[in-house]
Amino acid sequence: MTGRFAGRHVIVTGGGRGIGRATALAFAAEGAEVLVLGRTVADLEETVRQVSDAGGVAWLAKCDVSDEAQAEDAVRAAAERWERIDVLINNAGIDDDTPFLEIDRARWRAIIDTNLTGAFLMAQAVARRMAATGGGVILHTASIDASGGDGPYAAYNASKAGLLGLNRTMALELAALGIRSNCVSPGFTHTAMTEQAVGPKLLDYLNGSFARVPMKRLVRTDEVAQAFLFLASDQASAITGIDLRVDAGLTANWYILETLPDG
Ligand code: NAI
Repeated sequence: MTGRFAGRHVIVTGGGRGIGRATALAFAAEGAEVLVLGRTVADLEETVRQVSDAGGVAWLAKCDVSDEAQAEDAVRAAAERWERIDVLINNAGIDDDTPFLEIDRARWRAIIDTNLTGAFLMAQAVARRMAATGGGVILHTASIDASGGDGPYAAYNASKAGLLGLNRTMALELAALGIRSNCVSPGFTHTAMTEQAVGPKLLDYLNGSFARVPMKRLVRTDEVAQAFLFLASDQASAITGIDLRVDAGLTANWYILETLPDG
């Protein structure tokens, strides 16, 4: 621990599990006070407990980021407790693998409302406070799927590609206010959900022989968290509007030669 974020105030959405929990733990380990937001209080309580056990400080608020009133309430609670909000990590997200021809409007809206509109609502509410208190950093969890297709994830991929556009424009408009905005795009990441989804045999393959990925393994949640730490830190003071991929090399590999038929 270096105390790089001592005295700083950080909000992490979707902080009850996976990448969000790892990110909350990483900021707290560097001295930040962290507010974790999400829909499932038991998960958020577990994150707060883990932060506290590690000697850090975190608190929670139940918040569905796709609900404008709840997003505003959560940001107001943060602004009342803290004199400034230094960092927002827009991480809450849901995926969906409905085939394109079967996606109905309700399903489409649910994905866009959480992954894109939720990020916008949180970012706008926080940026208004940051603008009044001298600036800050807003980061978004996009995905490598924002830049290339992978299975039937039309709404998800569209929402994540939308985040890249939102991010670039936020960077332009907010620079003069001292606010930086960046995306982190994780590749295939090892979470509890990944374990449940693929089972132990496939997990062994993914973490040892994953031919599609140059590093032949999944990304760890703490590795995504480290990217957020860097982009939120003073060491990244000239970095805004970018998308930092944390993907073990996956998107560097076009995988052409390996997929040609033999002979
Ligand atoms: P996860 O499902 O374990 O965590 C997502 C969190 O967001 C959960 O705590 C969930 O309750 C919360 N959440 C969902 N909808 C919400 C809403 N409307 N309001 C507030 N909280 C909400 O997923 P994971 O894997 O940790 O993903 C985190 C982010 O990373 C997501 O945005 C996801 O799209 C992105 N991502 C994940 C990858 C992976 O391989 N796991 C790869 C690339 C991106």
